[in-house]
Amino acid sequence: MKAIEMSKGIYRIGANIKTGDLFEGMWPIPDGVSLNAYVVKGDKIALIDLVRDWGNAPSVIQEQLSSIHLTIEDFGYLVMNHIEPDHSGWLPGFLKMNPQVQIITTKKGAAMVNGFFGVEDNVRVVKSGDTLSLGQAKELLFEEVPNVHWPETMVTYEKSTGVLFSCDAFGSYGCIGEAIFDDRISEEEHAFFDRESLRYYANIVSSFSSFVLKAIKKLEGLEINMIAPSHGIIWRENTQIIIERYLKFARYMNGPAEPEITVIWGSMYGYTQVVLNSVIHGIRSEHVPVHVHQVPNEDVSWALASAWKSSGLVFGMPTYEYKMFPPIASVIDMFERKHVWNKKVFRFGSFGWSGGAQKEFESRTEKLKWEFLEPVEWQGNAGDEVHKLAFERGKELAQQVKEMTK
Ligand code: FEO
Repeated sequence: MKAIEMSKGIYRIGANIKTGDLFEGMWPIPDGVSLNAYVVKGDKIALIDLVRDWGNAPSVIQEQLSSIHLTIEDFGYLVMNHIEPDHSGWLPGFLKMNPQVQIITTKKGAAMVNGFFGVEDNVRVVKSGDTLSLGQAKELLFEEVPNVHWPETMVTYEKSTGVLFSCDAFGSYGCIGEAIFDDRISEEEHAFFDRESLRYYANIVSSFSSFVLKAIKKLEGLEINMIAPSHGIIWRENTQIIIERYLKFARYMNGPAEPEITVIWGSMYGYTQVVLNSVIHGIRSEHVPVHVHQVPNEDVSWALASAWKSSGLVFGMPTYEYKMFPPIASVIDMFERKHVWNKKVFRFGSFGWSGGAQKEFESRTEKLKWEFLEPVEWQGNAGDEVHKLAFERGKELAQQVKEMTK
């Protein structure tokens, strides 16, 4: 893949990572992820965002640079919008080849560059509103967007073209092909990036949703012609789609989210599982879409994404040693960390000799602002009454979800 010119003197370079590794060491990326970096060429040349030494990315970007007759040594500036190692990890290798480059980052970014890489020289600290002229009318404007997604993060805006280099904001999982722009990909690919941007948001950014809203508000004054994130496709035909999508994702935190329900279940010997279909039929009787995830068989990444966009949640879990079934306890822990708040919720599940899961469930989720419907619990094998009750509870939840999202 060659460097791709996005606008006169501005190029996308970057690598698709398909190593089978987990993102952040924990999130599955079966379709990979792109690490995007950008070249802005005036009299001086800036590289915006870097890559990690991952999946051969440093060699790939050097090859792409050679397609536009550039080498690492040609860069006068390295703009580091965000120091998370997916965008900074190759800094030592880069500096070996170009020790003179000036690093541009925020005050907190400078501390991280020192902390991660022991680099203090040639670091220029910028703050919101600062600019950097590259010549030939290219001028970079920096805006801090703290906590999108680390506290040091900023975005960079090229004034003459209106290109916003947004780093993690507006990003997505998934590799990108030769067609890197929103107007060049198929409907199917759009649907894929829609799904994977939600999963990326829920996994990586969701805890910082209030900061996402602030950042989008802060950027309102800029005339944005193109959005160039550090993961995923570049938006130029309709930048509003991804802005609106991120606004919607961020607002899900305070609810209501979509009129949908996510069911997350786990079962030891099948005595909880047998009631699952009764709950689902109850939900479907109200024509509310339902997403079903089994744990621990499926990674929490997907359950988190559908829970983030759902207004209603159902947990199917038995009592395990007087407490919650541990795989569901682990989901609850993740939901707490990622701020899955303001949902309508109920739980169903069996117990052997004593209950206890419900008590722990309610106490562990106290801070999540969930509204509970009565649980459905039973000893051992579920009889007709339990199935009937589970159907009714599913239906009731679906009705409440419809009501809250009207
Ligand atoms: Fe893509 Fe927060 O790093």
